[in-house]
Amino acid sequence: MKQTELLAIIEKMSPKEKVDQLLQLAADFYTDNAEDRTGPMDNLNINETTIDNAGSILGVSGAQKAIDIQKNYIENNPHNLPTILMADIIHGFRTIFPIPLALGCTWNTDAVEEMASISALESSVSGLHLTFSPMLDLVRDPRWGRVLESTGEDPYLNSVYAKSMVKGYQGDNLKEDVTKVAACVKHFAAYGGAIGGRDYNTVDVSETTLREKYLPSYQAAIDAGAKLVMTAFNTIEGVPASGNKKLFRDVLRDEFEFKGPVISDWAAIKEMINHGVAANEKDAARLAIEAGVDIEMMTTCYDKHLLELIDEDAKYMDLLDEAVLRILELKNDLGLFENPYRGADPVKEKEVILSESHRESAREIAEKSMVLLENKEILPLDKTAKIAVFGPKATTGDLMGAWSWQGKFDEVITIAEGLVSKGEHVSVSTTNYDLFENTAESLVDAKELATTNDVVVLALGEADWMSGEAASRSDIKLPQSQIELFKIVRSVAKKVVVVLVNGRPLDLTDISEADAILEAWFPGTEGGNAVANILFGDVNPSGRLSMSFPENVGQVPVYYNTENTGRPYEAAPEEKYVSKYLDVSNYAKYPFGYGLSYSSVSYDNLALDKEIGEIEDTIKVTVTVTNQSDRLTTETIQVYTRDLVGETARPLKELKAFKQVELAANETKEVVIELETKKLAYVHQDLSWAVDAGEFNLMVGPNSRELKLAKSFSLR
Ligand code: GLC
Repeated sequence: MKQTELLAIIEKMSPKEKVDQLLQLAADFYTDNAEDRTGPMDNLNINETTIDNAGSILGVSGAQKAIDIQKNYIENNPHNLPTILMADIIHGFRTIFPIPLALGCTWNTDAVEEMASISALESSVSGLHLTFSPMLDLVRDPRWGRVLESTGEDPYLNSVYAKSMVKGYQGDNLKEDVTKVAACVKHFAAYGGAIGGRDYNTVDVSETTLREKYLPSYQAAIDAGAKLVMTAFNTIEGVPASGNKKLFRDVLRDEFEFKGPVISDWAAIKEMINHGVAANEKDAARLAIEAGVDIEMMTTCYDKHLLELIDEDAKYMDLLDEAVLRILELKNDLGLFENPYRGADPVKEKEVILSESHRESAREIAEKSMVLLENKEILPLDKTAKIAVFGPKATTGDLMGAWSWQGKFDEVITIAEGLVSKGEHVSVSTTNYDLFENTAESLVDAKELATTNDVVVLALGEADWMSGEAASRSDIKLPQSQIELFKIVRSVAKKVVVVLVNGRPLDLTDISEADAILEAWFPGTEGGNAVANILFGDVNPSGRLSMSFPENVGQVPVYYNTENTGRPYEAAPEEKYVSKYLDVSNYAKYPFGYGLSYSSVSYDNLALDKEIGEIEDTIKVTVTVTNQSDRLTTETIQVYTRDLVGETARPLKELKAFKQVELAANETKEVVIELETKKLAYVHQDLSWAVDAGEFNLMVGPNSRELKLAKSFSLR
């Protein structure tokens, strides 16, 4: 449909019909059960006409249900408009992939794009049009439960993934390709900066930090064509995002040139009253429509008060028309006027959902996302070894994480099932192990199994509700009962391999005596098979952390790209008056970019094709890597730079490029990585992005700490 045709429709709409388009209601109002509720439920006190004409619906799933709802909607709508069916497909629809924080550890953009593409296919065949993904909040605080949904602590790596996800969800022709869905960038902005890691808490970051660290990933998704942006719950500079004109009019629309609609997060418009920035719902409606928030999710400030505002000042009719046009343009971009049912197909749904090929993809991506943190020469396990597998995460289907809406526990391959399918002598305990308490029975069972087997695989971690939204933790250790279980097993077992299932970096001090620690995250539907393939060596682990693991919660926030400070510890470690703690190091226990494999790879002969470059230039970085093992390995070569002098203090190191290479047994490869010098730009005091002439260090290595090779170059 042309824009003129959309404008003609708007011309015919009554003001109330226009206001209805700005309302998003949850599936509860259209189906007989609450399918997807992720926020407080108000009594909205709305009439049937408003329900019939609300512009979009959240949380419907099922092809036939979607078809029925759309058919009913179009018939009831005075202008036969279609609705948009949106939902949270965060890392898979029914085939659940690893959580985004695990995807962030793959350093594999093809894998992330494939995850999004399969998620889109399963969602669209089940009737959905748009997913509230990717979540691109940079994270530095593991106390915040929603680190689970982020790809990590680095602006550049998050931006790379942002592009891959949008491409995977939307493809190249969203209107015609009904196997794709529209993507929604969230949460704009800087929701991950919640003070104390406490969800929904105040965010107080400088505009420099906002622009340099938090905004790049959102902008990358918008540049990649994401169709919708969601507001964050938090304030920025004291102003709630949903009423923040500077953030949405000046930055998102003027600077980022985003033309699509903005949707509030659940109840976020009305919550401006709680923030103490809106006096009442009418004030909240005014602030939000002036800021350019087009869709109100699950509250009715617009429904109740926009017409009053229009009666008082005609400018609000212009703002309303602007919002309706953006919403209808989104429906048009999805082809909903020509094909309101898009990909919904009850027959195809049965063959596509959770297909073998999707399971295979989920398994392979889970294998790529797991990070081997410790291995005291025990892994890989021999398939003939006598192995016992037990612990609270050993036989549970709770491997999918907090945002696995349509995922089903009984469709998950458990860790025990995975090991049994691969090993020849794997004993699975029949005793129940609880996440939060040990029983006399479980402890006896644990000791018995530990003493009668060569190896114990102890599966520990979090329940799905312990991370994700509204799941902040002040203590990021494993539950005390699990620490006790580990200590008892450690005291009698020959060898102990801990497999962790969790949605955040943890303080792993208490299990440091394990012979091996595999961070499996919430690995998804095929998690057990992925764990088994890694533990038995059929897959060489290649995951590299995209978020630092602190020594303890007192270090938080701890991240790799820190400033040097005026009293750097490294310069005078014996000195008292330097930046340090008295009781713990300054450094993460497991740093950004870290991960072990079953191989060791040497790095040699770092060379740059120029020592002096122009500001708009490309520097060719060459390094020789050698796989010193007799097994195939995947190595992620990481390139960090340091700008030695800037207008603002520049981080000691910043990831600026990386390349993942496969190395056959004992293979040596010369690898060339191109560094575009425009990536060396940073936010100056006047808030402009620019690259300075000057001196730089360039460092290359397997993670952000082991950067053995370095070269200097300068820009002029
Ligand atoms: C939730 C989340 C948001 C999600 C939305 C709809 O509160 O903050 O990420 O997309 O509501 O479920």
